[in-house]
Amino acid sequence: MTHRRAAVIGAGHTRFGVLPEGPRSLLRASVDGALTSVDRGLDRREIGEAFLGTLGFSGWQLGNASAILAEEARTPGIPVTRVENACASSGFALRAGIRAIESGARDVVLVCGLEKMTDSPSSRRRYWLGVSGDTEWERMAGLTFAGVYGLMASAHIREHGTPLEALAEVAVKNHENALKNPNAHFHKRITREEALAAPLVADPLRLFDCCPVSDGAASVLLAGEELARRFTDTPVTVIGDGAASDTLALQNRASLTRLAATRRAAEEAFQRAGTDRNTVDFLEVHDCFTIAELLALEDLGFADPGGAAQLELSGVTRLGGDLPVNPDGGLKAKGHPIGATGASQAYEAFLQLRNAAGDRQVKGAVTALTHNVGGSGASATVTLFSVR
Ligand code: COA
Repeated sequence: MTHRRAAVIGAGHTRFGVLPEGPRSLLRASVDGALTSVDRGLDRREIGEAFLGTLGFSGWQLGNASAILAEEARTPGIPVTRVENACASSGFALRAGIRAIESGARDVVLVCGLEKMTDSPSSRRRYWLGVSGDTEWERMAGLTFAGVYGLMASAHIREHGTPLEALAEVAVKNHENALKNPNAHFHKRITREEALAAPLVADPLRLFDCCPVSDGAASVLLAGEELARRFTDTPVTVIGDGAASDTLALQNRASLTRLAATRRAAEEAFQRAGTDRNTVDFLEVHDCFTIAELLALEDLGFADPGGAAQLELSGVTRLGGDLPVNPDGGLKAKGHPIGATGASQAYEAFLQLRNAAGDRQVKGAVTALTHNVGGSGASATVTLFSVR
């Protein structure tokens, strides 16, 4: 079936990290950045609709954050929908934006992701970090989010003999990549030895196996593919996308080492794009914990079950390797302001595919895959972008 495709014509990104700015100014800066990045300019009155991905972490504007986006984007009157799918909130907001363009309902759509996390005390943060997982059997029983991924890591080690060095390698690589990303939360090189000796957070995961708690926002502007060249000579087309869900609690899943939602979303994305994995030049995957990057490589179909560790240890996934993974530093080192992550991944795809990623440029990149996960795998999106 041929259909109208959506193309990214602009993208904006704030710094990620412990930031003094509040949510409104983060949102405004990322939207203004996206508008400024449109090569031939875009009058904001041309934006027909907007979608905002945000969890509302720790109680910040729990309801109706959409109105704030309309205010800060200075687009009064347009419909704005807030999307909340945990850490995949803006991945799903992006999906809604793509559908609005593909259906012909809108010609230009704004998609934003936002989270302000660091302005609450640590006890409140601990409580809020668990709200996207199962409450009855996990959170209220004392299981933290790191604990959930710690269980998955233990099961992966048991099933596949996964070496801890492979987890450490993910952290070392992503910290290395973040050094080249001015927007990243961390600009700190670490060694494998430091990662392996860091304080334990949730066995076997240590400090550098975890993403940090970050503030930040990211925005992308989509247009119908046939209109996109009015705005830029280098639109980045969404050639396919997929989304899926799974059980909220780990205990109800058939496997702790495979995320069914990721697998289904990937199959749908490749099927919609009519392409295969060999065409993908780099990946932006949801590495909230280092084990999640290994699971992603396996569930997305770039490694066999248990095979991702070797891929990481061989250097294939490094910048300059055959299949770079998370060139922007990933959630691990770029940071993970929950609702902003999906939009941030799309921002990276936009930059890389336009050969505008500076020191972290993946040479000759034409096709990118982004992968955003909510909870411990309860929801997932996969999006394929191309400048082909
Ligand atoms: N990776 C690397 N360094 C980290 C870090 C991380 N994830 N988290 C904190 N640090 C560093 C800080 O920068 C600080 O360094 P400094 O002393 O040089 O300034 C130091 O560690 C202590 O920071 P602090 O904020 O006190 O750490 P913490 O013990 O409160 O938190 C974690 C550490 C791992 C518990 C926290 O980062 C965390 O909860 N991460 C997971 C977030 C999460 O679950 N998100 C949702 C995922 S789906």
